[in-house]
This record gives sequence, structure tokens and C-alpha cells, in this order.
Amino acid sequence: MTSRMKTTKPWAGRFSQATDGFVERFTQSVSFDWRLAPYDIQCSIAHVTMLARVGVLSADECEQITNGLSDILDEIETGKFAWKQELEDVHMNIETALVDRLGEVGKKIHAGRSRNDQVATDMRLFLRAEVKNISSLLLQNMQALVALAERETDTLMPGFTHLQAAQPVTFGHHIMAWYEMLKRDQQRLRDCLDRINVMPLGAAALAGTRFPIDQSFTAELLKFSTVAENSLDAVSDRDFIIEFCADAALIMMHLSRFSEELVLWLSPQFGFIDIDDAFCTGSSIMPQKKNPDVPELIRGKTGRVYGDLVGLLTVMKGQPLAYNRDNQEDKERLFDAVDTVKLCLEACVNLVPSIRVNRAAMLAAAEGGCLTATDLADYLVLKGVAFRDAHAIVGGIVQHAMAQGRDLAQMQLAEMQKFCDKIEEDVYGYLDLQGSVSARDHTGGTAPDRVKQAVAQARQYLSTLGDAGNGSA
Ligand code: ARG
Repeated sequence: MTSRMKTTKPWAGRFSQATDGFVERFTQSVSFDWRLAPYDIQCSIAHVTMLARVGVLSADECEQITNGLSDILDEIETGKFAWKQELEDVHMNIETALVDRLGEVGKKIHAGRSRNDQVATDMRLFLRAEVKNISSLLLQNMQALVALAERETDTLMPGFTHLQAAQPVTFGHHIMAWYEMLKRDQQRLRDCLDRINVMPLGAAALAGTRFPIDQSFTAELLKFSTVAENSLDAVSDRDFIIEFCADAALIMMHLSRFSEELVLWLSPQFGFIDIDDAFCTGSSIMPQKKNPDVPELIRGKTGRVYGDLVGLLTVMKGQPLAYNRDNQEDKERLFDAVDTVKLCLEACVNLVPSIRVNRAAMLAAAEGGCLTATDLADYLVLKGVAFRDAHAIVGGIVQHAMAQGRDLAQMQLAEMQKFCDKIEEDVYGYLDLQGSVSARDHTGGTAPDRVKQAVAQARQYLSTLGDAGNGSA
């Protein structure tokens, strides 16, 4: 805050004492809500344009206020604006600056509104813009994943359950699972926009206003799709922020799981992938280390967004209607969630194209673990053995193979026939990794042809989403 000079507060009329210095520091929000300034000004310009339309302001007054606000925005954007802590928040800082410039006319801006509907509107405008940014980053990540999957549609790797090698899958299929998660995240954000896009203006402090306002007109100017149906709800609702944070928490959960896999795959024990040195960091003591700090930090930052969500739910849980100052606590949490998600999505979008796949290591891991045991059981079922019996027979064969350090595909026919005489030469088609994945050729299956289809469908889907990736204004 640049000034310690005492400034008259817009609400000072009924007070006979100056605000205590500590209370000013305790109640101020301008140190963080200054970033709402462009939205606050957009909101105010729409408000006065409407007031002029309904005759509460003259055209000349409206023009003076609009020009004054535009000049203030200019000052803010060029860093020349002097924010004052004693003016509490972004709204009173801007209003006071306007009055300083215009005198009497500036004082007319606040007719028919309150900071309560103003701040709710600013937050919605801010979040709508940021949801579009996040949506577009999600889209870029989806594109990066599809490009990676496309290069690896035939690459064999072990698929895991319980982090134990389970059945062979293709790496392209594995990557497309991540695409599906981000696709849902992107759809959730699109849904969330419907609830954000509601205009609170007109609710004023809580009960509405006597002025002959034209809310549809203001909503049109601000590109809101609807006007809030209840003034008490309009000023006190923060569901749209909580809903966004829940969506953001899910995005972070997905990015964190993805990061966890990258960390595992990058470890020499897996050695499935490598990423560019530029995306890794070293150890200050162990010269051999190449550490995956970027995915680790994404995993670590997930906790912030979960915290933001739980913090916001808690801010709201005890509040009677309508506006309470508790609501001021929504800002830092929302800003943190927005900033963290954007930062982590940006990290991922840079990281994914730098992934180099070690196909030989993936294949070696898939070859060693009798991963086609389920295929062998399925083979026996086709030969008339009941699945439970087949499971037990194959268990015996697996035990035998593992004791000798061999994979199922390396077993002699005669050895296997000792466990079950229904096994014939055609069994090898079931034991081979390639055959195993290719046979899973159904919706959602891991067959390379299916993965190619999934990639094509994804490209088609992405092309329908447009720039912002949200399909709506
Ligand atoms: N800085 C406040 C907030 O963030 C603005 C609204 C203040 N309203 C009031 N009646 N004190 O919520």
C-alpha cells in the first residue's frame, strides 16, 4: 500500500471516530482483491450505462464516469495507481479515485447497487474469464496426450493393478486413459460455467433497489446468460466458487496421479520413460541424480487446491443470509486455486511432449511376468473347462514357469499338457503379448486398432471444442 495518509471512507458518514489502525489492516482486502480491478471497472461501466438508459443518470454523467473509469483502469494497468489500505478494498479504492477526478459526478456511480452485489458480480466475471483460460490449457494438455498416444499405439507395456504387473496393455491405451480424465474435467468446467454465468446486479445490499433498473440490459452488456432470481441468494451465494474449486480439485487429483506415474516410470527401477534434462533438476550432493521435481511439485501442489476447497466450504457453512464479511475470505482461496491449476496445467503441457518412451524397457517388463495367464485361462474356457478350474490349472502352470524364471510363452507344449490335456499347439496364439492386446478389440479395449480409433475420435472431439475449449460464451 503506497499511502498511509488518512482518507475519508465512502461509508464514514455515521461514524464519529476514525477506524482503528489494526482494524484497517484486519479488514482490508485490497492487498489481494486489487486483481479484480478490470472486472470491477467493467461491472461499473455496465451499471452506469444502464442507469443512464433508465434515466437515473444523464448521458453526459454516464460518459464522464465511463471515461474516468477507463482512465483509472489505464493507471492500474500501467502500475501508476496508488492503492490505499485505508480504503479497504478494490471497490472503494476505485470509487474514491473516480470522485477525486470527477467530483460530484463521481459520487453518483453507486446509486442502485451495493458492494455486495458488486463484489459477487466481479467474482463471477473474474472466474468466467479464468475458467476459459483453464479450459484452454486443459485442451492443450489433451492434445499433447493424444499426440503421445498416437506415437505409441502399438507399444507394449505391463498394465498394473495393485502396482503389480497384471496384463499386457498398449502404452497408447494407457495414455488415452489420461485423456479421458482430462476430458471429464473439461466437461465439468463447461457445466460450471452455467452456474457462474448468472448476474447478481440489482440485488444491491440484499433486498434489491427502488431504482427502475433494467437488469436484462446490464446482463446483456456483461454477457451474463441470466439474472439471479433472488436478491438474498444473489449477494450471498458462493456456490459457483466452491463448485469451481471442486472441479479444480479433481483436475489436480488427476494431474497428481499422472505425476505419480511419471515419477515411477522415470525411476531407474522402472526406466519406462525419460524426460528432457531441461525438465529435471539435480541433487546438490549426489552428482548422479536427475530428479523429477516438476511432477513431484504438481503432486505436492494438489494439497493447496484441496485446502482451498475445504477452506471455502468452511467459510460458508455457518453463515446466515445474506451477505456477511466472512465472504471476503473467498478471494485468496479462489485466486490460489486458479493460479495453482493454471501453473500445473502449464507444467504438464510442457512436460508431456518431452516424454521419451523406452519401448524396450516396457516390453521387457511385460515379458517377464506371466502376464498372459488370464489369456491362458480364457483359452481353457474356450476348450470347455469351467473358468474356476481353468484359473486353478493356470495357477499351477504359472507357479512352474516362475520357479524356472520363464514366461508362459517360453513353456514347452508338453510341459503345459501335464497340467491339462486340453492344451494344444494353438495355445501359443494366446500366450503371446501382441496377440493378447490385439484380441481386446472392443469398445474401451487396448488393441492397437482400438487405440488408433480412440485417437481419431479424440481428435474429432477436440476439433469441436474451439479455442477456449468450453463451447459457450
Ligand atoms: N471486500 C468485500 C468482500 O470482499 C466487499 C464487500 C463489502 N461489503 C460490505 N457490506 N462490507 O466481500
